[in-house]
Amino acid sequence: MERREFIGKGIKRIFYAIGAIILAYPAFSFMKFRKSRKKRIIFHPDEQTSIVNFKKGVFLLRQGSENYALSDRCTHLGCSLNYDPVSQRFSCPCHGSVFDVTGKWLSGPAKKDLYRVPMTKKANGDIIVTITL
Ligand code: FES
Repeated sequence: MERREFIGKGIKRIFYAIGAIILAYPAFSFMKFRKSRKKRIIFHPDEQTSIVNFKKGVFLLRQGSENYALSDRCTHLGCSLNYDPVSQRFSCPCHGSVFDVTGKWLSGPAKKDLYRVPMTKKANGDIIVTITL
């Protein structure tokens, strides 16, 4: 094989490799998109002072001595919910679904209760909430 032929084949292979990467990119990005990821949110004791606390997509609520965490995603189409401390209800700004403070569905197009998010309490008082994205 002559030098010119060798270089020509090498350049062709480089272009084939670049083409294969460009064609495969959408498939790999879709697979990455489908992979579920978990996110940990830590509520330190000074962030647990009120009955309803909010951080990064999670409401941490206190009822008596018990804590529980609710996702801020509406179960209809996933809009972020607002909490009204006067009525003690969650309301969705998109289509008007309403949930009580325990996450129970009260009215509107969302027919499911809010999702309870798993949480653990550490010895130092930190509450760790794990949400799946
Ligand atoms: S997204 Fe909340 S009611 Fe539709």
